[in-house]
Amino acid sequence: MEMKRKFKMGLIGLSAAFLVACGSTDSGSGSGEKLTVGTDAAYAPFESLDGEKIVGFDVDLLDAVMKEAGLDYELKNKGWDPLFIALQNEEVDAGISAITINDERKKSYDFSSPYFESINMILAKEGTSIKSAKDLEGMKVSVQNGTTGQEALEKMFGKSENIKKYENNVLAIQALLNGEVEAVVADNAVVQEYEKNNPDKKLVTISDKENFESEFYGIIFPKDGEHQDEINKAMKKIIDDGKYAEIYKKWFGEEPNVDVLKQ
Ligand code: ARG
Repeated sequence: MEMKRKFKMGLIGLSAAFLVACGSTDSGSGSGEKLTVGTDAAYAPFESLDGEKIVGFDVDLLDAVMKEAGLDYELKNKGWDPLFIALQNEEVDAGISAITINDERKKSYDFSSPYFESINMILAKEGTSIKSAKDLEGMKVSVQNGTTGQEALEKMFGKSENIKKYENNVLAIQALLNGEVEAVVADNAVVQEYEKNNPDKKLVTISDKENFESEFYGIIFPKDGEHQDEINKAMKKIIDDGKYAEIYKKWFGEEPNVDVLKQ
């Protein structure tokens, strides 16, 4: 009797130590595995830092998807270029960072089903003469390095000295405020959020649905990773059961058009 109880207590102690050692104190899969998800938390309202905490639409969406899939995870702020390197080295299991699904990236990475529709947009100072993307020709324009904003500009004007590339989008916007460039090109929701939250900066946004193309964001994975299927299933579930709409409304104040995600 005495022996038995001791043995049991020992086992409980051991498994508690094991849990602590694995750092898996959150509820989740129960398998003990904890996925690492990377992001570049400088892209509000999708991901940004609130003190030490990463917050945003992507953060809430990821949490809902992972809960639905029963997967334990940790979100890490890696930065944009390092995130792609970390995916290639399989140092992270996934990434969520307003990442556009495109053919070029599909050669090296896998994606979840699309979760958000986006398009590039121009941010400039009030009184600008810019009316469309074509007007950016010959002007200094900032972008975040390696984004579809850079790609869209290079497609129109070729690679050019005038396209100023920054490590993150906050720095790309800073370049506009400093007068180093005449415009920023980045995702519409990000540009609009910045303009709305900074009325003192006197900025305007210019959309151009002819020269910029519609894009869709996906969760990104190393090629042939293990979790695509369960994450896709969970994504579909939260889109169908209204959880996605709830998160969308929290961040964008309106109902999403989920039909565009299903095409
Ligand atoms: N959607 C664009 C792209 O995939 C920009 C994404 C930038 N995301 C970020 N977290 N900085 O190229």
